[in-house]
Amino acid sequence: MLIAGNWKMFKTPSETEAFCRALVEPLANIENVDAAICPPYVSLATALEELEGTQVDVYAQNVHWELSGAYTGEISAAMLVALGVAGTIVGHSERRQYFAETDETTARRAKAAIDAGLKVIACVGELEAERDAGVTEMVLKRQMKPIVDLIGAHERLVVAYEPVWAIGTGKTATPEQAQETHAFIRSLLDVPILYGGSVKPDNAGDLMSRPDIDGALVGGASLDVDSFAAICSAAVVDA
Ligand code: PGA
Repeated sequence: MLIAGNWKMFKTPSETEAFCRALVEPLANIENVDAAICPPYVSLATALEELEGTQVDVYAQNVHWELSGAYTGEISAAMLVALGVAGTIVGHSERRQYFAETDETTARRAKAAIDAGLKVIACVGELEAERDAGVTEMVLKRQMKPIVDLIGAHERLVVAYEPVWAIGTGKTATPEQAQETHAFIRSLLDVPILYGGSVKPDNAGDLMSRPDIDGALVGGASLDVDSFAAICSAAVVDA
């Protein structure tokens, strides 16, 4: 069970320091749950320093596919490795929606990270209109294909299913909907699959108890220590 907190564009280094200090104790007694936080780039070093020697991993939110080069504004996998980061998210729907990330660039970023020794959380998920039109599986197949072709099942690769209509909206997929979709994704690629989209302490236990849900990628509810820790303990039900 992996519970990862995607902080998005929140928390300065000093806010990160306070969060990490407060997180260590509530997580200390939670067994069989791997926790990770994904702060913005500028707060990674602080998080690593504060969480050194704990069971909490630190992930970046994105990574470039080249090892170095003229790519203003980008960060390479080698840089993340040099910093001591454990892994990275790739292909988050906000990257796809606002920064023209595609299925192909997502897979290339994932591949570069895997090749550099990082763990990867690769995000996929359909839009509300796509679910309504009954094309969810077709969309997921299209999104997964370059990942399957370029990487395949790898011990450091995790997929996060995040229905776009459930992200930051308070509209969580029902555990049944999520389970059904996770089983479909697993038929395409057999790796751990996290659910993301309005995961909160009160719905995490039910979601995590489903057989094909192997953890959660949590946005809003990961910004508060108490709610993030509560989601981690709710995940123990199925540990
Ligand atoms: P949310 O975000 O939990 O705030 O819906 C999830 C995500 O975007 O990873």
